[in-house]
Amino acid sequence: MPSIKLMLISPDGRRFAVKEYADLHTNFGLVKGEDIRNAKPGQLLKSNTGKPFAVIKPGFIDLFSKMRRSAQIMSPKDIGLIIAFTGLNSKSLVVDAGSGSGALCCALANIAKRVVTYDLRDDFIELVKKNIELLGLKNIEVKRGDICSVVEEKNQDLLCLDIPEPWNALGTAKACLKVGGFLVSYSPCISQSAAISDAIEASPSLMLLRTVELIERLWELKGRKQRPMSSGLMHTGFITFARRIYT
Ligand SMILES: C[S@@+](CC[C@H](N)C(=O)[O-])C[C@H]1O[C@@H](n2cnc3c(N)ncnc32)[C@H](O)[C@@H]1O
Repeated sequence: MPSIKLMLISPDGRRFAVKEYADLHTNFGLVKGEDIRNAKPGQLLKSNTGKPFAVIKPGFIDLFSKMRRSAQIMSPKDIGLIIAFTGLNSKSLVVDAGSGSGALCCALANIAKRVVTYDLRDDFIELVKKNIELLGLKNIEVKRGDICSVVEEKNQDLLCLDIPEPWNALGTAKACLKVGGFLVSYSPCISQSAAISDAIEASPSLMLLRTVELIERLWELKGRKQRPMSSGLMHTGFITFARRIYT
């Protein structure tokens, strides 16, 4: 897969990945391939209609925005909450399932020491491997397997679940998490969160902490027009946090 060399940002903030130095056709006109070839980060290129395109060297979040998607991915607001509540850092060891398109596992690998991600399906495994290559991550391993069967990893700091029946993976949580490690389960439906919460409460080695839904509201700020936007990303999912407490 050709790597992303540069990114062009159009006047409305859209990011265009440059993999080859071909002409770029946009709503704001055409930017010539030759201009893109000679461009350096920090420069402004002009389209044939005179519109400015900023040139940047892509960072992690720019490449992340270009990941291929198949399954519903976790949104940055929810990923941010997981990182903040669990204190994920450069020493953290993480197990994740299911990999899906790899949004969560790749965002965690950008911070953690090592991430192992499991999925049942070969098509998702192929997809997540392509996305890992796009992002240039070296500290993430993709394994085919059922997270509800016990996994090889031990003494992990964090187990993240984004699967339809997370309550079936509590045996894995007990086997792979260190004492004090976090179990995080993300579900689109509150019935799933309620079921895993009940299962955690019934499990003496785990302590249920909280279930959170994070609502992000964007604002429109243009001169005197200062109000919440009427459209946007509404419900994504519920995140349940628990901790392994006994050996
Ligand atoms: C919604 S996607 C996960 C999306 C992912 N968190 C992301 O941010 O891109 C759910 C994935 O879980 C996988 N899955 C379902 N049950 C599983 C299990 N028991 N073990 C491992 N993977 C599983 C599915 O194949 C699917 O790829």
